Amino acid sequence: MITYHERERIFKLDSPNTSYMIGIVDEENFVGHIYYGKRLKEAEASYLMRTQEKPFVPSRNNRERGAFYDGFPFEYPVGGLGDYRESCLDIRTAGGHAGAMLSYVSHEIMRGKPGLCGLPATFGTEEECETLKLVCEDCYVGMRVELLYTVFSDSDVITRSVRVENGGKEHFYLTKVYSACIDMDSRDYDMISLHGSWARERHIQRKPLGYGIQNVSSFRGESSHQDHPFLALADRHTTQEHGEVYAMNFVYSGNFRAQAEVSQFDGVRLSMGIHPENFCWKLEPGESFQAPEVVMVYTDRGLDAMTNTFHGFYRKHLLRGKYKDKKRPILINNWEATYFDFDSDKLLSIAKEAASLGIEMLVMDDGWFGRRNFDDCALGDWVVNEEKIKGGLAALVEEVNKLGMKFGIWFEPEMISPDSDLYRAHPDWAIAIPGRPGTQIRQQYVLDLSRKEVVDHIYAMVSAVLKSANVEYVKWDMNRQLSDMGSAALPPDRQGELYHRYVLALYEMQNRLTTDFPDLLLENCSGGGARFDPGMLYYSPQIWCSDDADAIERLKIQEGTALIYPLSTMGAHVSDCPNHIVGRTTPFETRGVVALAGTFGYELDITKISEEERNQIPGQVAMYHKYNDLVREGDYYRIASYSQNHMFDCWQVVSGDKRESLVTFVQVLTRANYRSRRILLKGLSEDTRYEVQILSARGEKEGDVWICGGDTLMSAGVLVPDMPGDFRSKLIYLTAVD
Ligand code: DGJ
Repeated sequence: MITYHERERIFKLDSPNTSYMIGIVDEENFVGHIYYGKRLKEAEASYLMRTQEKPFVPSRNNRERGAFYDGFPFEYPVGGLGDYRESCLDIRTAGGHAGAMLSYVSHEIMRGKPGLCGLPATFGTEEECETLKLVCEDCYVGMRVELLYTVFSDSDVITRSVRVENGGKEHFYLTKVYSACIDMDSRDYDMISLHGSWARERHIQRKPLGYGIQNVSSFRGESSHQDHPFLALADRHTTQEHGEVYAMNFVYSGNFRAQAEVSQFDGVRLSMGIHPENFCWKLEPGESFQAPEVVMVYTDRGLDAMTNTFHGFYRKHLLRGKYKDKKRPILINNWEATYFDFDSDKLLSIAKEAASLGIEMLVMDDGWFGRRNFDDCALGDWVVNEEKIKGGLAALVEEVNKLGMKFGIWFEPEMISPDSDLYRAHPDWAIAIPGRPGTQIRQQYVLDLSRKEVVDHIYAMVSAVLKSANVEYVKWDMNRQLSDMGSAALPPDRQGELYHRYVLALYEMQNRLTTDFPDLLLENCSGGGARFDPGMLYYSPQIWCSDDADAIERLKIQEGTALIYPLSTMGAHVSDCPNHIVGRTTPFETRGVVALAGTFGYELDITKISEEERNQIPGQVAMYHKYNDLVREGDYYRIASYSQNHMFDCWQVVSGDKRESLVTFVQVLTRANYRSRRILLKGLSEDTRYEVQILSARGEKEGDVWICGGDTLMSAGVLVPDMPGDFRSKLIYLTAVD
């Protein structure tokens, strides 16, 4: 998979269908990017580094060193010496200077993939992957940089990360350290990225790439509702089915920047890493810094192929734990049912009704601890409020278990309310700038997780609650962004480390939790979906997608999320109507159909909904059990996008052996005097005949079953019967007959 061609000084990294090539040039050993794309047979094309063009390489023409630096396709560019494009690494020396340049020193090609100290990362066995460690240095500063590349035999993925070590005699500061860069020639590219806000996360944006810098980023301390650590460049003509795409996704949950810069010579530099704003990491001699991982995907088979590459790769090489490949229990969460106004009697009345309809787990959300009767107090006081939970947690869980249901609980471990016993005892445990009143968001501060005593204290409280009863699920929430960055425990020249130290401590806490409670199902959440990223997915196999569970709003949110992440990771529930966020009323069955594309559950007061809706729940439960294996493990295809056509949405999942498939069709708006819609199916076997059954949104058979060839279904398509009314939906279920 990885070869070094000594004579040509070229590294060639091959995945099943792609090649990536790196070259070393000149006596100064600059490391340049040669090629990334469709798999090539030979290690050649080093001419793409253009070292024979004016101004040639510096050792032959030192007069134009600056011009060389500003045009060479650096594999990992460092700032300060004349490359005026965006750098990947910036430093400040003890003397206060910036500027460095990397030269190749040595390399190692090893089987398998080393873990990244303190960070989540994808993994693979020695049979599945191979890693190149490229060691470079700047001898003037004494800085050693290891560039890590891993290729996989089963996925068209290359993962990258960077480790910087101070091998010199004096300290220096890292003021920027990205994790990956591709310096290519620019073509007619579109940039695809994900954007939104609270309650409308990860909407897809596609726009033409132009000259200059275009980036998406977050410096909110989390990957964020607003932007997403993902960036793709797609050929202007790339569609779902055809065309080239280069994509990067960051395995990190804090500040990030993902960027494409089109330069004066029509080069494009695609880069991704920790956001440099307010980042400054001090490296004493002998110390090192590990930057997080970037996952890169290239395909020439369109966006569906990119999506399925990410899905398959994350399912196999990122998700972990007991539940990663399993059907998750259907849950009912009391947040939108009761908000803070509940006690154990109320919860049990919900649980009883839910159990009788086939729901498998009760989740007790925010409001069960301290004096938490509203969102203005008690975060940090993780002690059960026995006025609400009479007889304590174990008694409640026992009753829930007696109903045949599992029990889950909500925490927000990273936060502290100013009105809490914890804050009164330890005001300095909150992140704050000394002498300034802190910015409250949702009337809370963020705990300074860079302090071990804080992490230990909070973790001890959380784990005591978990040990006190048979808790089988945790929803780990995080409801505000970071601001006022200051730690009472860090010296002035290390305050710039706080953002990253916070993320490292968060990972350490979740690592402890999943190690100490290996059977626990962990669902991450951040005010909805502000931290839905591969970093968090390493610890929890599912993440709450958005606080907006309106069936129509969810179409865009789930389309954007599923562009990268497997459906098995998307927390999706049927919620109440009119929807609490947008006020829209949609049919109960359409809410069910949309939630079936995720982990599935309910978020409503089941004791208050209409008889008619309640009666639909056993049918939805049965549909979940019937189709979830397919949804969780199947290949995913986007057939129509409501965000593009503003009328209807359609996606399809196909089993790996292509013998079973489910198509989901949602008609958002009806169209006057229209006919049935023709849709072209995808991913089936051309040589297989399928039994095709149209189903109502309640899963009932509609019309006759017919048999049809996969080639016909994909090239000629099927008709989705006309549905009068808005927000209506249908399913099509296909099984192979020969
Ligand atoms: C935000 C979450 O996304 C909601 O589901 C709920 O848990 C609230 N926080 C509770 O405060």
